[in-house]
Amino acid sequence: MSAGELSGRVAFLTGAGAGIGRAGALRLARAGAVVIVTDIDGARAAAVAAAIAADGGRAEALALDAAEDAALVAAIDGAAARHGRLDILHSHAGIQRSGTLEEATAEDMDASWRLNVRAHFVAARAAMPHMRRQGRGSIIVTASNSGVQYDRGMIAYCTTKHAAVAMARQIAVDYARHGVRVNALCPGFVDTAFNAGFERQMGGRAALEAYVAEAIPMGRFGTAEEIAEAILYLASDRSAFMTGHALVIDGAECL
Ligand SMILES: NC(=O)c1ccc[n+]([C@@H]2O[C@H](COP(=O)([O-])OP(=O)(O)OC[C@H]3O[C@@H](n4cnc5c(N)ncnc54)[C@H](O)[C@@H]3O)[C@@H](O)[C@H]2O)c1
Repeated sequence: MSAGELSGRVAFLTGAGAGIGRAGALRLARAGAVVIVTDIDGARAAAVAAAIAADGGRAEALALDAAEDAALVAAIDGAAARHGRLDILHSHAGIQRSGTLEEATAEDMDASWRLNVRAHFVAARAAMPHMRRQGRGSIIVTASNSGVQYDRGMIAYCTTKHAAVAMARQIAVDYARHGVRVNALCPGFVDTAFNAGFERQMGGRAALEAYVAEAIPMGRFGTAEEIAEAILYLASDRSAFMTGHALVIDGAECL
């Protein structure tokens, strides 16, 4: 693979075995980064790393539940130790539990908080000393356009995605002087397995497609590849003066 704009950089990703995370892994690797692909499903992570290698890139795969603090910290520290640096963290794994205040349970809220907020905190906290030492780094926290707007019947998801945006902004303010940038990635509807629950809630695939066609001004889903371009933008020096930003990519759904 020819030297790309991320050549020599090391990227650590959670939830990257499918969907948006997978597309981001492939895109970062194509730009020259060494990509540590982690996913709770180790076979998926391995398949993504193999696809990167087949494309001429460099990747490692690891089975990792991003909600397990000790394993997450060990994986990030291990990657930084093996490669001598850590340039990019894409903390992507998330969960969607539906329901209004009376439908969702406290357990739904705890599970959502654990992965959609706490795991980003733990991952960023582990990555920061390595990035601070280098005087540079880019942390991308996957939130959602549900982190900047409110969806009916999604209290646990919307609340935790708003918190993810708030936390990214707070870390950005605290670490700007250290050269570490922190931004929130806020996709709208992207056609991945992640929407299976919402599809059921809507009453099936046809109902979901009708909703997307009607509710989104651009009249369609986004693709994982379209979001991967934003991941590359946030990960690279293309966004060198951007920190504390919630980058919404949603076909104008939130307007
Ligand atoms: N797809 C969308 O429409 C959409 C929109 C906005 C935000 N998001 C956000 O993107 C993220 C995932 O979306 P996607 O479309 O890439 O999903 P996806 O379902 O295509 O892939 C998610 C991957 O995460 C893995 N995963 C699940 N739980 C995990 C855990 N605890 N630890 C590690 N890995 C885990 C799964 O095995 C899977 O490979 C979530 O944070 C979600 O909130 C998605």
